[in-house]
Amino acid sequence: MSQHAERSHWGSRWSFMLATAGSAIGLGNIWKLPYMIGVNGGSAFVLVFLLCIFFVGIPLMMTEILLGRRAQKNPFNGMQALAAEARVSRSWKYLGGVGMITGLLILGFYSVIGGWVLSYIYYAAVGTFTEINGAQSTANFNALLASPLTLLFWHTFFMLLTMGVVARGVNSGLEKANNILIPALFMILLILLGYSMSVGDMHLAAQFMFNPDFGKITPVSVLSALGHAFFSLSLGMGSVMVYGSYLQRNVSIACTTIYIALIDTALGLLVGLAIYALVFANHLPVASGPGLIFQTLPIAFGHMPAGSFIGTLFFILVAFAAWTSSISLVEPATAWLVENKEMKRSSAAWLIGITVWLLGVTVLLSFNEWKGIDIIFGLNVFETLDKLTSTILLPLGGLFMAIFAGYFMRKTHVQEELNLSNRAFDLWRFTNNIVAPIAIGAVFLYLFGVIH
Ligand code: PHE
Repeated sequence: MSQHAERSHWGSRWSFMLATAGSAIGLGNIWKLPYMIGVNGGSAFVLVFLLCIFFVGIPLMMTEILLGRRAQKNPFNGMQALAAEARVSRSWKYLGGVGMITGLLILGFYSVIGGWVLSYIYYAAVGTFTEINGAQSTANFNALLASPLTLLFWHTFFMLLTMGVVARGVNSGLEKANNILIPALFMILLILLGYSMSVGDMHLAAQFMFNPDFGKITPVSVLSALGHAFFSLSLGMGSVMVYGSYLQRNVSIACTTIYIALIDTALGLLVGLAIYALVFANHLPVASGPGLIFQTLPIAFGHMPAGSFIGTLFFILVAFAAWTSSISLVEPATAWLVENKEMKRSSAAWLIGITVWLLGVTVLLSFNEWKGIDIIFGLNVFETLDKLTSTILLPLGGLFMAIFAGYFMRKTHVQEELNLSNRAFDLWRFTNNIVAPIAIGAVFLYLFGVIH
């Protein structure tokens, strides 16, 4: 059987959308965006983040989907095939290779945070949050971080969940779950937002997040915002490319991308609002970092009617969102092992699972035993992996994809995939070929100290 015939395709356009949205929506929106807003000074960060989503994220998501659909292969083989089609160096395949590794590096810490979420399902269900105040909530969270064994248990649990689905293949596992989960997540967020509005300080929260304060825009906030746009939309490492390779020919890449980007961004901002309303009402610090949602949300669940139930449901849905994202993080590497190394899907999943699990163990230790150990620039294992992937590897991957599609592929081939009106196509080309590379390039030049 030819490789082409073996590839499964999504059941419908809706399934692709839900799966890609499932990849995009995850801890990036619910856990990471809210705390990054706080750490990077609020509205300035939000503004730059939104600009990055619109002018870099959306065009590059289209690019990544089109590369995947044209290639019909895993990112490594896919880039090789596209390079052959464009008659340029086969070395482009390494772009796919780096992406696969990036996905595994991200999962190394993603799974540990996924584990935090799983543990919070349990805490919510047994009523730990009832009547809790800010100090108690922070103490609970710190106690979790201080216990390597507890973290190990939940991290292992999360990895098993992820690899269990990956082992079974993209159609059987993913497609169905997303149909219910994403709408359910939105629903529960609205409940949370409603509650935060009634007891929290929504006015201050909105001001903190949306009152543009250009003076607060710093190079670091720009860098983090750009990196987070990639992280949040799952761009630059091949997840979207692999999902694009399962997408049928007749589906519009542009419309799908815009829907996904809007849903993803809206969801992150809604969580942010709900959280900061609570932060201000409870006089909690805005810049408390990765623990933010775990310290603030229990306060809401501890006091609202039916809080244990709603809290449990909320963390279950977050765990599902994290789960569908983590599956997409390993999909490129799995597809590569299956298609190139002729491994069985289940063996590939085990191999990857164990490797990433071990990486995760080093990450969870960086919250306790190895807290002080600096890997580079004073960053511990968790911080190093996070910064390396979000601010360097993902934007760099995206940059190369943009350059490839914009300058190396034949224009007619690109247009065949995008199938846009002339004006829309020109707009995509302008953002993909010029705006995005300049934005990413400038940020990198700054990072390496070339421009100040
Ligand atoms: N977008 C996911 C999230 O926001 C994380 C992710 C990044 C998934 C890169 C796949 C690839 O949680």
